[in-house]
Amino acid sequence: MQAIVLVGGEGTRLRPLTYGTPKPMVPIVNVPFLARTMERLHEAGVRDVILPAGYMPHAITDYFGDGSRLGLRITYVIEDTPMGTAGAIKNVEQHIHEPFFVLNGDILTSLDLRAMMEYHHQKRGLGTLHLIRVEDPSAFGCVVHDPSGRISAFVEKPKRSEAPTDEVNAGTYLFEPEILDLIPSGRNVSIERETFPKILADGLALYAYTTNDYWMDIGRPENYLDAHRDILSGAMPLRLEPGITGNGASALQDVAVVPPIHVAAGAHVGAGAHLGPNVVLGPGCTIGERAVIKDSVLWDDVRVGEGARIDGSIIASGSSIGAGATISAGSVIGHHTEIAAGQVVEAGARIGPTAPLAQAT
Ligand code: GTP
Repeated sequence: MQAIVLVGGEGTRLRPLTYGTPKPMVPIVNVPFLARTMERLHEAGVRDVILPAGYMPHAITDYFGDGSRLGLRITYVIEDTPMGTAGAIKNVEQHIHEPFFVLNGDILTSLDLRAMMEYHHQKRGLGTLHLIRVEDPSAFGCVVHDPSGRISAFVEKPKRSEAPTDEVNAGTYLFEPEILDLIPSGRNVSIERETFPKILADGLALYAYTTNDYWMDIGRPENYLDAHRDILSGAMPLRLEPGITGNGASALQDVAVVPPIHVAAGAHVGAGAHLGPNVVLGPGCTIGERAVIKDSVLWDDVRVGEGARIDGSIIASGSSIGAGATISAGSVIGHHTEIAAGQVVEAGARIGPTAPLAQAT
């Protein structure tokens, strides 16, 4: 079984984080998201992974190399211009020779890929799409199917009152190679808007595979924080790197901890600090005395001064928050950004680089 992971998007909604780290490499509890996806693919028996990339590809190729460290064979295909979700698949056609998964590079899910494979083999369609149920489908692509699972219609982002179903496209697909014949080459093609409707119009069979799995698109800052909260609470099962979690907090001397938290080995937290709930500290973080941090994710090598307060925010690698500064909820601070001592950052602020950094990580 082969897999394509789509990793070429610019990740505009996560800016300024994605000016220093492409979205697939954004850390999820201190491990690049794509590394976690690769692990899932390996566990499902996939050995051959194709990565259509384009935006900051070196951050990806430098980390994974040929994939052998993970027991995978990775092929990179770099796009000069974005090809879109189906165009990117067509563009790697020469590497596909058997049924293959396609994964969006920004979906955190507990979906069992092997079970999806079995379902696909039973149904024998041209493709199988993973669906989940959501309360409000208006921001998603609704997928209508009959009791056998055969898909009859796609309705992109309907008004809530007009949504034909609460089942939506969850961004994991399993296709037979013949689907490649239905995608035009050499131009940008959207799988949702163009390829899926064409398959139905041609009378070919796509099947829905609906599950109750955990599912989160990490491509927006609030979702990224929600994903961390859900991992720390155990709602999304994920293996964590060694570190200090809420209950092992005796390792944090004179620190007031409200679990759950995850502090990378080697991070340092000063006396009198308050951590939690829902805090992740990356390797090399240094937290000053009496600092107060809750509902936030700090990447590696972030320095927080004495008495600073951080609430509901994301702070990227190498940044520094001055003593007594306040970072209010919903803020996103990009790489290598200095917040001055005593500065008050208003809720929802985006501060940091304003263009891609030369040295992406
Ligand atoms: P936003 O700009 O914040 O919408 O993020 P994005 O650019 O990643 O777009 P979106 O979230 O819609 O993309 C879904 C998935 O498809 C992500 O994993 C992207 O990396 C990937 N993707 C989107 N467009 C392209 C493309 O043109 N080429 C490739 N190779 N991947 C793409």
